[in-house]
Amino acid sequence: MQQIKPAWRDGYFRAKVVAVKKLSADMLEVLLRPESSWPAHIAGQHIALTLEINGRLTTRVFTIASGSDTYQKEKQIRLVTKVKAQGALTPYLLSCMPNQWVNISAPMGEFIWPKVEKPLLMIAGGSGITPFIAMLDDAINNGQLKHTPVHLLYFAKPDEHVLLNELSAFSKGCEHFTYDVLSKQKDGDVEAHLCNFANAHWLVCGPHAMFEQVESYAKTINAPVSSEHFAALPVLSSASLSQSETFSLVHNGQSLTVDNQQTLLIQLQQAEQPVTYGCGMGICHQCQCVKKRGVVRDTRTGELSDSAEQLIQLCVSQAVTDLEIQL
Ligand code: FES
Repeated sequence: MQQIKPAWRDGYFRAKVVAVKKLSADMLEVLLRPESSWPAHIAGQHIALTLEINGRLTTRVFTIASGSDTYQKEKQIRLVTKVKAQGALTPYLLSCMPNQWVNISAPMGEFIWPKVEKPLLMIAGGSGITPFIAMLDDAINNGQLKHTPVHLLYFAKPDEHVLLNELSAFSKGCEHFTYDVLSKQKDGDVEAHLCNFANAHWLVCGPHAMFEQVESYAKTINAPVSSEHFAALPVLSSASLSQSETFSLVHNGQSLTVDNQQTLLIQLQQAEQPVTYGCGMGICHQCQCVKKRGVVRDTRTGELSDSAEQLIQLCVSQAVTDLEIQL
């Protein structure tokens, strides 16, 4: 199949690299043209991008930094990402060539323009600017910005803000859109900038620490918050679980001892079992498998599964009883 359709993979969509451009020392813009069967995104959603690196499929999640109207017109989407020197995937994006095929997932995520009759406060940290750029791109195109006042607080390290020319164009194109370019070093913590927006609906995308500050401040004034934060949520500490226990994990006829402190994915990897995975944080579903019996705990919420057969994600599941799964 791959001889007819390069990079074809069951369960993935294909996309052609259109261009890769450096936006700053470590920020990169990647333009992709998804194949025609790809279901169009809603501004604010993300995709899982998969590259074959040294013979191994590697997946990471990226928010699409362009609106859906732009996709309808140009048939391409844009990713904007920080290149992490030791990253598993981002350093390889630099060497992607135009016309190279990569794999992407369908668009995912609920972090989209909220259906509320209120002004919006967008709070971005670092590369958390990307969903807001996509939302503003659409809101300018479909006229929504004429009805909804939007203010953006954009935090990044000094001189590491990107896409400022686009923010400037949005603001020149619509008087309802205003923004502040901020850095913690110069302007202080995000809390210091929130008190004037008690009547707005808040949207926050950035590092987990920023989200926690915004969320706890919002609680004190009852401001509604929608959020997106890609860093893995902190795993419930072992202190909050019952003491360390071990269980048997049966998979495909083999048996393994696992504990209730680490995720099943980590323990299967340590035991050198062949597991498929991608983001490692519960987003891409590539580690999904069938649990035949037993109870697992979701490390993000602490919720327990029931004991019946169901789909689980290995990267966010810990054993609570003996388990049987089908990889
Ligand atoms: S590896 Fe992405 S959801 Fe588990």
